Amino acid sequence: MKNITIAIDGFSSTGKSTLAKQLAKHLGYIYVDTGAMYRAVTFFAMENGYISKDFFDKETLINSLPSIKLHFEFNTDLGFAEMFLNDINIEKEIRTIEVSSFVSKVAEVSQVRAKLVEQQQEMGKNKAIVMDGRDIGTVVFPDAELKIFMTASAETRAQRRFDELQAKGDNVSYEEVLKNVQERDYIDTHRDDSPLVIADDAIEIDNSYLSREEQFQAVLDLVDEVINS
Ligand code: DC
Repeated sequence: MKNITIAIDGFSSTGKSTLAKQLAKHLGYIYVDTGAMYRAVTFFAMENGYISKDFFDKETLINSLPSIKLHFEFNTDLGFAEMFLNDINIEKEIRTIEVSSFVSKVAEVSQVRAKLVEQQQEMGKNKAIVMDGRDIGTVVFPDAELKIFMTASAETRAQRRFDELQAKGDNVSYEEVLKNVQERDYIDTHRDDSPLVIADDAIEIDNSYLSREEQFQAVLDLVDEVINS
């Protein structure tokens, strides 16, 4: 069977990673969550005091980039690869609302993007990969055989993220989560370097009213079409 590259882009909390994980498992492909990489760099910046509310020392972060080593390690119990920063597992630390509130600022920095894009291209050089993010079909793998662009209303997405955070015991209000989703949408679509846009050849899926299973089936049909073409 032919190995392909599957690029999944879209707004935050559209269920990209859920779909990407399901697909990778089904196809026996590698799954890469590129948002986790931007979150890891953000966590590094927070830990070192380079970013906080109303403060961002972009230059020092840029100068520190060579000392940031990122890798993923597959966790068989969880069924997905966890994010490591300089050999420390930071999978939990990168999923907080604080990291979410700073990450778009860090993702705007071209030098950060260049470093992460290079690593992502290296991970996907042998194909058989499902990668999700914001610029996968446009910048990282413009030649990907299958590109999916996922959308859902901001309210639907905020409710999903709110439910997830609550389940983890994160004490946050729905309004705060909705505000964060809307702010990230704005920054992600308006930044100069690699803004979130739909690739010309991407297939758009609005999953506001689709169940996970319906969505998975629809995408599997697309994968079959591409693999057998
Ligand atoms: O998918 P996520 O919510 O974990 O992504 C976190 C942030 O990282 C998101 O606000 C935008 C940024 N990002 C990006 O700019 N490019 C990517 N390929 C992936 C994420």
